[in-house]
Amino acid sequence: MDQSESNGAPPSEMAYLTYNGKTIELPVLSGSEGPKVLNISDLYKELDVFTYDPGFASTASCTSNITFIDGDKGRLLYRGYPIQNLAEHCDFLEVAYLLLHGELPNAQEEKEFVDSIIHHTLVHEQISNFYGGFRRDAHPMAIMVGVVGALSAFYHDSLDIHDEEQREIASIRLIAKMPTLAAMAYKYSAGQPFIYPKNNLCYSSNLLRMMFAVPCEEYIVNPVLVRAMERILILHADHEQNASTSTVRLAGSSGANPFACIASGIAALWGPAHGGANEAVLNMLYEIGSVDRIPEFIKKAKDKNDPFRLMGFGHRVYKNHDPRATVMRKTCHEVLEELGIKNDPLLNLAMELERIALQDEYFIEKKLYPNVDFYSGIIFRAMGIPTSMFTVLFAIARTVGWVAQWREMISDPTQKIGRPRQLYRGKSERKFIPLEKR
Ligand code: SDX
Repeated sequence: MDQSESNGAPPSEMAYLTYNGKTIELPVLSGSEGPKVLNISDLYKELDVFTYDPGFASTASCTSNITFIDGDKGRLLYRGYPIQNLAEHCDFLEVAYLLLHGELPNAQEEKEFVDSIIHHTLVHEQISNFYGGFRRDAHPMAIMVGVVGALSAFYHDSLDIHDEEQREIASIRLIAKMPTLAAMAYKYSAGQPFIYPKNNLCYSSNLLRMMFAVPCEEYIVNPVLVRAMERILILHADHEQNASTSTVRLAGSSGANPFACIASGIAALWGPAHGGANEAVLNMLYEIGSVDRIPEFIKKAKDKNDPFRLMGFGHRVYKNHDPRATVMRKTCHEVLEELGIKNDPLLNLAMELERIALQDEYFIEKKLYPNVDFYSGIIFRAMGIPTSMFTVLFAIARTVGWVAQWREMISDPTQKIGRPRQLYRGKSERKFIPLEKR
């Protein structure tokens, strides 16, 4: 395979690998930022061996122009823009446009994009029937995995991934309908009637209103909470090839329809090691209960024989501060201030936990810093959002990143079905033993 064709960029230099008396060339490809990569596409063909990298800590699965993370310096760029600038100056749909199209929208582009989202926030009326099939205490992520996948049963005119127009309308539908479906999951668990979206509200205002309004009275959204939600959604929108995004890409590589791919991303995000960590942080803080019990839990987190980990700490890529956590911490104080929540015991506990952990030699040596999930749960709780909805809110935001990455993958001419291999350590071939002789 011509290396320049396979990756769109000519190799900048060559690496050499010698094994079993044979030396092969491995083209070294450079990106615009970050580590170079060794193209090993022909390794198996040339040397009859696989690479081995469980967890893919040293593996680039694709080329991408969307998001760049510098874990050592704690930098996060969406299409080249630092996350801090976007969180400070943009609204969520402005950033969604940037992630999808590669450039910040001008006023006309933003108006058209917002209009297209606003006019797709309703879901097919029959979809509400699905909710009645769940127990009222169903976890809202279980509902979201189900109903988002079920969208492919309703929108037959946006399933053909090879039709650019259908890809576009599926993208708009997914981004537009996630808040509606999420709010319906919350209302269902609360036994309250579903609230329809309103076209004169912005993305986060609609989300908050659909969650907290009741038909008996007007619901006035709090602009500080709206601003906080917009910022939180921006911070969670995309994050390179994390577990759920890689799941969406792998599902998409088989040609699965966009709704099924996003449903697979929601399922992967649910795990407490990933997007489920924000819910796990709150549950951990409740379990710790008071500042004097922090040392006991720090000790548990350091104990190799104890599966307990300090939720909201550590990251596969960030070995410095997660820049999102820094913005989140600031937002947390603003929201609590606005709500007049002084001296929140959970926030005090979280801040003391952060202070103690960051001074502990174990966390320093392993470069474990608070990540994006450490503070988000405290903000959501202060906003009156139940813990079980935290990861659902993460999924609403990350749908933009999943869709942007899925579109990038589908439109890559070199794209083919993802199919990793393995190091087999099972039984070698052996003689069959009939039942009567076992
Ligand atoms: C997200 O990938 C992304 O980009 C994800 C995300 C996104 O936006 O998509 O950023 C969102 O998922 C954030 C992470 C949320 N998860 C948590 O907060 C759960 C707690 N954190 C850990 O489970 C862990 O830090 C991970 C899963 C986040 C990262 O795990 P890694 O990179 O596989 O690191 P590791 O498990 O190999 O840990 C390295 C060492 C280990 O010790 P040793 O085996 O070297 O002795 O650090 C220890 C770990 O035991 N360690 C922790 C720890 N995290 C790692 N010890 C105590 N508490 C922790 N939280």
